[in-house]
Amino acid sequence: MWGRGLLLASTAVVGVRSNPGANNVEPCAYIATLQSEGASSFPAGSAFDCLNSVPVDVEGDKKLIDELKIAWQWHSDISWLKNPPADWEDGSLDLIAELDKIKSNLEQFESEYQVQIAIQKITVRSGNFHLNYIPDILQVFGWQRDVSLVALSDDGVKVPKLYVTFDALKVADGNITEEKISDITKINGADAWPYLENLAQWEQYRDTDGRLNSLWAKGDTLTPGAFMMQSRFDGAETNITFANGTEIEYINTAWTNEAFKDVKDGKSFYEKFCKGSISGVDAADNELIWKPEFKSKRGPTAVPPNGEHHSSLLHRRETPAVYQRFPEPVVSADSGGVAGYFLDGEGYDDIAVLKIMSFAPEKDPYGLEFQTVVDQFLVSSKNANKNRLIIDLRENDGGSMQLLLDTFEQLFPHRAPWQGARYRANPHFKLIGDAVSEIYNNDTIQDYYKETWNGTFKEHYRHWAYSHFLDAQNKGFESWAQFKGPELFNGDQYTKTMRYNLSNEDDISVRLGGFKFTDETNRTTVFNHTDIVMFTDALCGSACAAIHEEFKNNAGIRSVTVGGRAIEGPIQAVSGNKGGEVVPLIRGIQQADRMRNISRTFSLESYPADEATLDEIIDTPELQRRAGDDMTRVQAQLMMRKGDKSSKPLQYTYEAADCRIFYTHESFADPVTAWKQVWGAFLDPESKCVKNSTGHKSSLSGGFVPYGPWTLKDEDLPKPESTETSEEAAKGSPEGTDFEGVGSREGASVIALFATVAIMLMQL
Ligand SMILES: *[C@@H]1O[C@H](CO)[C@@H](O)[C@H](O)[C@H]1NC(C)=O
Ligand SMILES: *[C@@H]1O[C@H](CO)[C@@H](O)[C@H](O)[C@H]1NC(C)=O
Ligand SMILES: *[C@@H]1O[C@H](CO)[C@@H](O)[C@H](O)[C@H]1NC(C)=O
Ligand SMILES: *[C@@H]1O[C@H](CO)[C@@H](O)[C@H](O)[C@H]1NC(C)=O
Ligand SMILES: *[C@@H]1O[C@H](CO)[C@@H](O)[C@H](O)[C@H]1NC(C)=O
Ligand SMILES: *[C@@H]1O[C@H](CO)[C@@H](O)[C@H](O)[C@H]1NC(C)=O
Ligand SMILES: *[C@@H]1O[C@H](CO)[C@@H](O)[C@H](O)[C@H]1NC(C)=O
Ligand SMILES: *[C@@H]1O[C@H](CO)[C@@H](O)[C@H](O)[C@H]1NC(C)=O
Ligand SMILES: *[C@@H]1O[C@H](CO)[C@@H](O)[C@H](O)[C@H]1NC(C)=O
Ligand SMILES: *[C@@H]1O[C@H](CO)[C@@H](O)[C@H](O)[C@H]1NC(C)=O
Repeated sequence: MWGRGLLLASTAVVGVRSNPGANNVEPCAYIATLQSEGASSFPAGSAFDCLNSVPVDVEGDKKLIDELKIAWQWHSDISWLKNPPADWEDGSLDLIAELDKIKSNLEQFESEYQVQIAIQKITVRSGNFHLNYIPDILQVFGWQRDVSLVALSDDGVKVPKLYVTFDALKVADGNITEEKISDITKINGADAWPYLENLAQWEQYRDTDGRLNSLWAKGDTLTPGAFMMQSRFDGAETNITFANGTEIEYINTAWTNEAFKDVKDGKSFYEKFCKGSISGVDAADNELIWKPEFKSKRGPTAVPPNGEHHSSLLHRRETPAVYQRFPEPVVSADSGGVAGYFLDGEGYDDIAVLKIMSFAPEKDPYGLEFQTVVDQFLVSSKNANKNRLIIDLRENDGGSMQLLLDTFEQLFPHRAPWQGARYRANPHFKLIGDAVSEIYNNDTIQDYYKETWNGTFKEHYRHWAYSHFLDAQNKGFESWAQFKGPELFNGDQYTKTMRYNLSNEDDISVRLGGFKFTDETNRTTVFNHTDIVMFTDALCGSACAAIHEEFKNNAGIRSVTVGGRAIEGPIQAVSGNKGGEVVPLIRGIQQADRMRNISRTFSLESYPADEATLDEIIDTPELQRRAGDDMTRVQAQLMMRKGDKSSKPLQYTYEAADCRIFYTHESFADPVTAWKQVWGAFLDPESKCVKNSTGHKSSLSGGFVPYGPWTLKDEDLPKPESTETSEEAAKGSPEGTDFEGVGSREGASVIALFATVAIMLMQL
C-alpha cells in the first residue's frame, strides 16, 4: 500500500533478472556493491534474496507478537472481523489467533522478512486500510514492475479485457488504431484474470472488485496502479502473453532510500535496519509525540485533476511529461484536491461535474481553499443554469472530517449530516477516559502536562472529550459515564454512538486550523438530489465513504461505479474502508504512558497507584522498536449507519451501487467521455449499465430507503445485547459534567502546531 507514483510510459526491458553470479555472493552484499557503484535501483530478485537472507529473530518476534496482540485491542473492528455478517466476502478473520499461529511456527519461517510479511498479511486480509502494520524490514525496499495494466470493455457493459496501459493510451491518443494492439491472456504463464485476482489479495479493500481496481492504472490521472507500483515483491520478472501470441518479459525492479554501506549479509542487515533506526520510536522522533509534519506514507496520494502530479515517497523515477487529460476547469483548487467542470453539447448543456480527488490536499491542510472552491463552483453552476451534477469521487481515499462535512453542507444546506461513530470500549480506553474525565478541569495537572510534554492535554486526549460530542439524537452527553457505556454489540463493548458538534469553536473537536463551517443560513440547494449522481471506482474509502454515506442515506443520491471483476452483476460503490478516525498505534501507547505518569504523580482517584491495566500496552519495547512510527496504525472508531437498529458497522454493510459500468477504450483516459458514459447510465440503466448490475436491494434503485436528515427516532435506536450495570458505569465519573474553561492560547505558532496535530489525529 505504498503511495501511488507516476505512470511510466515505458515498456523497456531493463536491468538484469537477478544476482547473476549467485555463486556464494551474499545477496545483501550484492545490493551494497551495486549501490556503491552508483545504482539507485536493483533487480527485484536480488533485493528479495537479500531480505530473504535475514535470519528470523525468534525470541524478538515472540515478544513482538505478544505486544501486537495487546496493541491490536485498540482496533475498533477486531470482533467484527472475527464474527462478520454472512455476506462479508472474506469470511471470519481472528487477528489474535492468526498472530498466535505465526508465533507458534516461527522456526518454520525462512527469514525475518517472511515472518513480517505474514504479520502484515493479517492486516491486509482485514480489508480495512486503516489497519496497517509496516515494520522496518518492510520499509527498506519499494517494488516496481515496468508495466501497468488496464481493463477495458468494447462498449462499457460487456466484460472487459486486459491491456497494457501504454498500448491503451496510444489508442486513446489516436496514435495507433485498436486493431494494432492485443489484449493480455496470460501473466507469468497463468491465466491473466485468476492471476490478478490472486495478486489482488494484497490490496487492502473490502472486496475483490475494489482490489482489482486498485491494481489497474487510471488513464485520466495517470496513476499507475498497484500492479505496477507493487505492494510487495512478486517475482523477479513479469511475463505477459498477448492474444496475438507475442510474449514480453519485464524485469521487476526494487529501490531503497537506505544506505547499505557495511551491510555484508542478512545478519548485518538486521543489525543495521531492524534495531530501531528506521521505524523505532526514537528514529521516528516520536519522543516529541504529535510531531507537526505528519505525512501518511501509506495509501494513495492525491493526484490533482488539473494535471499536476505528486510523486510518491518511494518512487524515485523522473517525472514524465504530464498529459493534460482533463478539460479546463470552471474553478479548481491549486492543491489539486477539488475542481469543477461544465459539460457541453447536446443533452449535456446543463450538467456540471464536481471532482473531489481528496479530502486531505497536502498543500491545503485545513481545507480553506477547498471550501472556497466548492462554494465558487456552486455559485458558478447556479449562474450558468447548470442544474444536473456528477460528483466524481474516483480514487478518493479520504482525508479530513471537517471537509467532507462542509462539502455536504454546501451541497445540501439544512440537511444536517450525521456521521455517527463508536469507540471500542476496551479496558485501556475506558481507564484513560476515567482519568481524562477526572482531570479535565484541573489546571494544575494540565499545566504539568504542558511543562512535561510541551503539548495541550485536551487536544492530545480529544478522543475522550465527550463534552464536545453529540449523541445519536443531537443531544450532548451529560457525563463520561453516559458516553462510555459500554454497550454490547456482536459480543464486544462499545461506547455510545458519538458525533461531532459542528458548532464547537475550538480545535479539540472537529474544527481545525481556523476552519469555519459554511454558514447555511441563507443558502439554498443548487442541485436537486434526483439530478445528481455519484461516480466512484470502488476505491472510495474513509472520508470518501463517509460523504458517500451522507449522499446516500441522508440525501438519497444514486451511484454509478466503474470496474471490478470481469463478470456481470452488481458492484459495491465503496470498497475502501468505511470506518472512522485512524491513529498511529504509537499514539495510544504514548497516551497510556503519559496517563500512568500523571496518575503516579498526582494520585488520581480514578487511576490508583496499584492500577495495572495500562502496564501491558506501555511495556511494548519490541513493537516500539520495530513499528514505532506513524505508518503502523489502527482504526479508532467504527462508522455507524443512521437508522441501522442492529448497529452493524458500515464497514460490514454490503451496498451495491445503483449501476455498474466498465471503462471503454475512450472513457478510461478521457474524463469527459467517462462523465458522459456515467450520465447515460444514470438516465438509462437498462441499456447502459452492466447486465443485472442495477436494482440490488441494498441500493436506492433496489428500494433502499434513506433515513434523511431527521433526528433519529427513539424506536430506531439500536438495542445493545446488554449494557453494564449502572454502578459499574457510574464508577468512572467522579467529575460531573462541567468541561468548560479551555486555557488561553500561547500564540500563533502554537495554534498552528496544535491544529496540525489535530489534523493528524483526524485523518479518515
Ligand atoms: C501520442 O502522440 C502524441 C504526439 O506525438 C504524443 O504527445 C503522445 O505522448 C502520444 N501518446 C502516447 C500514449 O504515446
Ligand atoms: C501483439 O500485441 C502486442 C501488445 O499489444 C503488441 O505490442 C505487438 O506489436 C503485437 N504483435 C503483432 C505481431 O502484432
Ligand atoms: C519468464 O520468461 C522467461 C523466459 O522465457 C523464463 O525464463 C522465466 O522463468 C519466466 N518467468 C516467469 C515468472 O514465468
Ligand atoms: C428542484 O426541484 C423543485 C421541485 O421539484 C423544482 O421546483 C426546482 O426548480 C428544482 N431545482 C432545480 C435546480 O432543478
Ligand atoms: C514546544 O513546542 C513548540 C511548538 O511547536 C516548539 O516551537 C518548541 O520548540 C517545543 N519546545 C520543546 C522544548 O520541544
Ligand atoms: C455544541 O457546541 C456549541 C458550541 O460549543 C454549544 O453551545 C452547544 O451547546 C453544543 N451542543 C450540544 C448539544 O452540546
Ligand atoms: C441572511 O439574509 C438576511 C436577509 O437578507 C440578512 O439580513 C442576513 O444577514 C443574512 N445572514 C447571513 C448569515 O448571511
Ligand atoms: C513523568 O515523566 C517525566 C518526563 O518524562 C519524568 O521526568 C517523571 O519522572 C515521570 N514521573 C513518573 C512518576 O513516572
Ligand atoms: C487538581 O489536582 C491536584 C493534584 O491532584 C489537586 O491537588 C487539586 O486539588 C486539583 N484541583 C482541582 C481544581 O480539582
Ligand atoms: C443477478 O444478481 C444477483 C445478485 O445481485 C444474483 O443473485 C442473480 O442470480 C443475478 N441474476 C442473473 C440473471 O444473473
